[in-house]
Amino acid sequence: TDTPSSLITIFGATGDLAKRKLYPSLYHLFRKGKISEQFAVIGVGRRDWSNEEFQEHVRTSVHNALGSQENIEGFVSHFYYQQNDLSNSDSYQAQKQLSEELDEHYQLEGNRIFYLAMAPEFFGTITEDLKTQGLTDTKGFQRLVIEKPFGHDLPSAEQLNSHIRESFSEDQIYRIDHYLGKEMVQNIEVIRFANAMFEPLWNNRYISNIQVTSSEELGVEERGRYYEKSGALRDMVQNHMLQMVALLAMEPPIKLTTEEIRSEKVRVLRALRPFKQDEVKDYFVRGQYGPGTSKGQTVVGYREAENVDDYSNTETFVAGKLMIDNFRWAGVPFYIRTGKRMAAKSTKIVIQFKDIPMNLYYNTDKPLAPNLLVIHIQPEEGITLHLNVKKSGQNIETTPVKLNFANNSVDGMNTPEAYEKLLHDCMRGDATNFTHWDEVKLSWAFVDKISEVWEKTRDEQFPNYESGSMGPKAADNLLAKDGYYWWPIANLDVDQC
Ligand code: BG6
Repeated sequence: TDTPSSLITIFGATGDLAKRKLYPSLYHLFRKGKISEQFAVIGVGRRDWSNEEFQEHVRTSVHNALGSQENIEGFVSHFYYQQNDLSNSDSYQAQKQLSEELDEHYQLEGNRIFYLAMAPEFFGTITEDLKTQGLTDTKGFQRLVIEKPFGHDLPSAEQLNSHIRESFSEDQIYRIDHYLGKEMVQNIEVIRFANAMFEPLWNNRYISNIQVTSSEELGVEERGRYYEKSGALRDMVQNHMLQMVALLAMEPPIKLTTEEIRSEKVRVLRALRPFKQDEVKDYFVRGQYGPGTSKGQTVVGYREAENVDDYSNTETFVAGKLMIDNFRWAGVPFYIRTGKRMAAKSTKIVIQFKDIPMNLYYNTDKPLAPNLLVIHIQPEEGITLHLNVKKSGQNIETTPVKLNFANNSVDGMNTPEAYEKLLHDCMRGDATNFTHWDEVKLSWAFVDKISEVWEKTRDEQFPNYESGSMGPKAADNLLAKDGYYWWPIANLDVDQC
């Protein structure tokens, strides 16, 4: 294995994220031999657990995960528990002592990863305590992994960042955007930069528009309290959607290094056309789901969900038109759309090429279908290229066909999950698929312009889309104004070709 030894301390060890994602991911890395035997995990939580209770918790979470179940006991034996109520410095001293013991036992060479899998209001104090209590004072590397949300808007993100930066430097901070760990999101770059046939066309001379949809079937579930203050714009657009746009739009990096890739992404975010307050409505549409049907079940609207205000003004859907004002993309709209309780769980990117200069084949009643390149991010993974060919028979008639590549991972077993890849990257010190502060800052600055307007005005149409639909009508109008429409998700399915 090329992965150095390390001590991974997980704050929020008894929480949901750790159980659903972190333990299964670490286990898969362990089982595949991607982490060295020299590792240990300290789970930090408020509950008064013994090591045995914690190990049982980890065992159960791994049992519930997909994949083979070999050597779970060997894996679980690396897990230790430390109670810490975060307000008491004594528990940091106990944690420090445990860290040192484990370091010696497993020969961890002072390498430390601190994973904050918990509510962001604690990020600042934890990082401060880690430093002042001497837990970061070791001879190896120190890395800090943090989950979203990274702030609520630009000022709060700046405040949080400067607090964290008192204890960790930018190159020690790994800000998770789990979309960057998805196989097909990582493939965007390869599709673009490893094929001769796309990059020459990847600009405003040949592409008419790009559509990025990330729809979910689930509603807000138990996260009402968080979501009421967040909404789809902060929850999905500020991070995942803008990251995908940056990867689609960036210039080829000089090299595939973390710095080069990040700086190209930053340049895209800098080129996003800013708008004035009264222009927001021309570029962005918000929605909130009402009751409807999801997976054949009648479901309640957002306002009826737990911990949600009866008159909530929070958006559960966003559609937007982004303009990237640079030489490559001038005039090409990037449409994004994301929402909860929509018709399907699906993330897809459609690159629509411009119509050819002249249609010689007007012998059918339909105009020629435009060429599309579809990147299927999830649930299926693959690429589809939509072309026109001759319809078999006497006449010269055209018919659209799809060339299809399905990434052979559809069962979800073979492809590493996003978290597995990101954890492994962090252990190896590769920060490419994590977001740099410059990206976070620019994304908030962009998104804040929209939320400022939305917070000032109530949307009297809310709820404005039915559960199980593809969002409000206004989202269709956004494209119709430009002469386009959203390519229907269902017709694009990779496995339907
Ligand atoms: C998270 C959001 O970042 O992404 C959730 O907070 C959302 O609200 C989730 O459901 C979607 O992720 P995925 O991987 O299921 O598309």
